[in-house]
Amino acid sequence: MKKYLFQIFVLLFCSLKSIADEGMWLPQLLQTLNEKQMKKMGMKINASDIYNINKGSLKDAIVSLGGFCTAEVISNQGLILTNHHCGFDAVQNHSSLEHNYIRDGFWAYNKNQELQNQGLFVSFIISIDEVTNAIIKDINNNMTEKERQSVIDKNIAQIKKDYKKETYQDIFIRPFFEGNKYFLFVTETYKDVRLVGAPPASIGNFGKDTDNWMWPRHTGDFSMFRIYADKNNHPAEFSPENIPYTPKKSLAISLKGMKEGDFTMVFGFPGRTNEYLSAAAIKQIMMVNDPAKIKIRHEALDIMKSFMTKDEGIKIQYAAKYASIENAYKKWQGEVLGLTKSNAIQKKLDYQAQFTSRLASNPEWQSQYGKILEELSSTYKEIESLTFARDYYNEIMPKIELFNVAAALTSHISNLGKDDAANLDKNKKINGKIDDIFNEYNAVLDQQLFEKLLTLYVNDQPKENTSPLLQELLTIKTIHEIANDIYTASVMTKADNIKSILAGDSKSLVDIIKNDNLFRLYTDINETYTNKIGNKISSIQLNINKLQRQYMEAQLTVFNDKVFYPDANSTLRVTYGNVKGYQPRDGMNYDYYTYMDGVMEKYKPGDYEFDLPKKLIDLYTAKDFGRYGVDGRQPVCFIAANHTTGGNSGSPALDAYGNLVGLNFDRVWEGTMSDINYDPSICRNIMVDIRYVLFIIDKFAGASNLIEEMKIVKK
Ligand code: ARG
Ligand code: ASP
Repeated sequence: MKKYLFQIFVLLFCSLKSIADEGMWLPQLLQTLNEKQMKKMGMKINASDIYNINKGSLKDAIVSLGGFCTAEVISNQGLILTNHHCGFDAVQNHSSLEHNYIRDGFWAYNKNQELQNQGLFVSFIISIDEVTNAIIKDINNNMTEKERQSVIDKNIAQIKKDYKKETYQDIFIRPFFEGNKYFLFVTETYKDVRLVGAPPASIGNFGKDTDNWMWPRHTGDFSMFRIYADKNNHPAEFSPENIPYTPKKSLAISLKGMKEGDFTMVFGFPGRTNEYLSAAAIKQIMMVNDPAKIKIRHEALDIMKSFMTKDEGIKIQYAAKYASIENAYKKWQGEVLGLTKSNAIQKKLDYQAQFTSRLASNPEWQSQYGKILEELSSTYKEIESLTFARDYYNEIMPKIELFNVAAALTSHISNLGKDDAANLDKNKKINGKIDDIFNEYNAVLDQQLFEKLLTLYVNDQPKENTSPLLQELLTIKTIHEIANDIYTASVMTKADNIKSILAGDSKSLVDIIKNDNLFRLYTDINETYTNKIGNKISSIQLNINKLQRQYMEAQLTVFNDKVFYPDANSTLRVTYGNVKGYQPRDGMNYDYYTYMDGVMEKYKPGDYEFDLPKKLIDLYTAKDFGRYGVDGRQPVCFIAANHTTGGNSGSPALDAYGNLVGLNFDRVWEGTMSDINYDPSICRNIMVDIRYVLFIIDKFAGASNLIEEMKIVKK
């Protein structure tokens, strides 16, 4: 009995404790689920100040930037703040050798200097409503997954049609808790978003790949844009007539800074997490999927780096590609380490044991959910080797640029119609795509990727899963000889060749392409994948989705004393936690703040990652921090126990009063496994202190015009 009581105590204590920092919460449910605890942790405002559909609340200052990052409104003239790495594409698109904004930074000293960005948009969330019942009506347990989905799609379409909204608003509906709940979002999307400011990459991406996913950090990862609206303040396409957007709410900025233990919250659009997987699924990620992806990226990055360090031109061409491949490569390594170190599999097994014993206490639960875990485990076994092949395919194919050319041409051919006039437009598109690929292409580098990655493709997989054509070629030639043939003889190795073929009639286009050796190999690898792997995965995946949905339903039912948050799905969430350091390893203690002294410690003149602009060094030497320094030091970054993920980049870090104190941009290495298993002892998000952001804008760039727009409070 005593032992039993102790177990209950441990269980209660653990779940309360983890809930304190863990979770990405729906803003409209804070009042019911979280407000009390948030206040206990230090929050001084009410849940209704965060989300309110009747008056301006904090949520009206938060936007999804382009669907991949978060940004926030910081002036009553539509000025928004996000990360440097979120705005980087825009900065890069405006950069040239004469105007090297990547290297030198960009600042608009008045609105006329702001730069237009094709395709960039921001979305506000106007309201959120639960629509579960209307979505899952007409559904029963005898339906196949496909039948079920088609009923849901039909219901979604109907609700979207019937729902009352303004003409300038949009609606989307998303599943939550693996399809156990559905919420409807009314949004307003502004498509005229102009670049206002970005520091040099030596500040905005200081430390680059070496420091990425790491603490202690010293990066000024921010950039600024402005939202423009039509004369009614409504969404509009770009037009010179548009005016700066007047927000319902803009964030006030506090220069007070954060101390250990202070309450913080991060408000934004986290992309994807998987917190409710079974032990079997986590094991597969750790043992099969992450290692497969890491191995391929390791080889690809090695090859790219060997070229980039020798050739400045290639370095510029491949910089963005390299950074993006490296970002996930490094994250997955941290993830495996973190899952191992935090004993994630054992933790899940313990949780499953609790789950199983609760099932046993209730015959109805037992009969409904008693087999799920077993079935999940056997289904994961069934899909395991297929997911390895899927990861190999997904990782290898897009890294070989000539395969991207073949892919673009394949889809172009399949889209061609009989109408030559309509095809003209399609020709323009494909020509643009070909240019994009070849602008960032080096033939020697690409051939090395081709040889290395296809070697892994054949060596690491069972024969029956790989391309018969490639196997046949390999019986007569080495991979190097095969590559040589292709990279010298294929018509697809030069943009001009391809364009002149594209300009001809479509019949000869199809003939030439179909007889090309690169194209034939590409097609054979693709078809082998679809027949041997892709089709099977899709059908098993349907089964996993169903089991996962039932497992989620079961967890919500049997742990009805626990408060659950739904996995991230790129919808608006609030996460909260206190500012604190952590112990990465035995005997090591990490502080929660960094200062410019640390920037200078890392400074390496002329280095690709750790060089600094002279002006920044001068300001540091003169201790000229203005009102942004404290006691002669300039704060730079800090960490807290907020549960964030990819997509949260650019999210505001808010203090107890809802004032802006920092900008979220990363997580610590030891805690990147928070997407799968949040561990409050080592999971920390990394934010740049707002005072460093303002110091750079004001003192470094002299853009006082922007500072004047902002509302800076003393509290
Ligand atoms: N790790 C950050 C997040 O996942 C990105 C940081 C961008 N910087 C870089 N060096 N890649 O997206
Ligand atoms: N750096 C990520 C982002 O771009 C944030 C994270 O994964 O913590 O959204």
